[in-house]
Amino acid sequence: MRNLEGAVAVVTGAASGIGAGLARAFGEAGMRVALADVEAGPLESVCASLRARGVEALAVPTDVTRPAEIEALAERVYAELGAVNVLCNNAGVCQGGPIQEMSDADWRWLLGVNLFGVIHGCREFVPRMARQEGPAHIVNTASIGGFVTGGELGMYSTSKYAVVGYTESLAQDVAHHDIGVSVLCPGWTDTKLADAARNRPDELGTAPAKMEAITSGMATGMDPLEVGRRTLRGIREGAFYIFTHSDLRAVLEHRFQNVLAAVDRADDPL
Ligand SMILES: NC(=O)c1ccc[n+]([C@@H]2O[C@H](COP(=O)([O-])OP(=O)(O)OC[C@H]3O[C@@H](n4cnc5c(N)ncnc54)[C@H](O)[C@@H]3O)[C@@H](O)[C@H]2O)c1
Repeated sequence: MRNLEGAVAVVTGAASGIGAGLARAFGEAGMRVALADVEAGPLESVCASLRARGVEALAVPTDVTRPAEIEALAERVYAELGAVNVLCNNAGVCQGGPIQEMSDADWRWLLGVNLFGVIHGCREFVPRMARQEGPAHIVNTASIGGFVTGGELGMYSTSKYAVVGYTESLAQDVAHHDIGVSVLCPGWTDTKLADAARNRPDELGTAPAKMEAITSGMATGMDPLEVGRRTLRGIREGAFYIFTHSDLRAVLEHRFQNVLAAVDRADDPL
């Protein structure tokens, strides 16, 4: 998808971090941007800062865990901007702690945003994208945590492995519609993810704030705008996997070598 001037992007989780970085990078490329997030105040601020840079931007408060709100988002964007050429299902949250101790409420919240946010976004937008004139591309935000696990981040990794699996399947299932698909797998990025509990719904109760596993990595992480620009390059090139941190090669290599070595042992004498 080379010509992005005037194209329309929808970004969820756009009020902060990587979502705001994606929106900014799309604006730099001359795209029009619809911003969706559950935090209405910060969403308006990001929208205002894009408009101040001359970008055509629309803010639509949206909770991605609620299918009706995603449907309303799609209806509003198609009504006001006419098409959706790039959809970024990016909203995400994180909660640290031993995986076996996580409550159903913890799982409902984290899978609700990280996995069902992606599921709702694709289910709502794919049929519309398939019907529209012009190119379409979907980017689902997973993480390096969708390929390797880290101590006390098991619930997060479970959700991100699922996003990788969902997106690999989606790419096959929408190929005949000519819809491009990417899975975005950033490493440490300097965002507010360690404070994700700010958006946990009250009815799910509080969660133990065990975020030590990510706070230091985050503070020294990549600028979200750089993640946005690298993602834009991936969209232009039609890349399926979009990695933003080349220093993650060693951990990926280690994982895949372990898997392949186990496969090679399958026919060993019993
Ligand atoms: N920061 C990193 O190091 C890193 C690395 C890999 C992947 N990611 C992923 O990047 C994505 C963005 O996270 P971030 O790091 O920018 O964190 P962030 O907290 O800065 O931004 C996440 C945004 O998602 C929004 N959000 C939360 N729940 C929502 C809901 N129910 N509906 C709509 N919006 C909701 C938040 O309000 C926030 O604006 C997430 O999917 C995250 O898992 C982050």
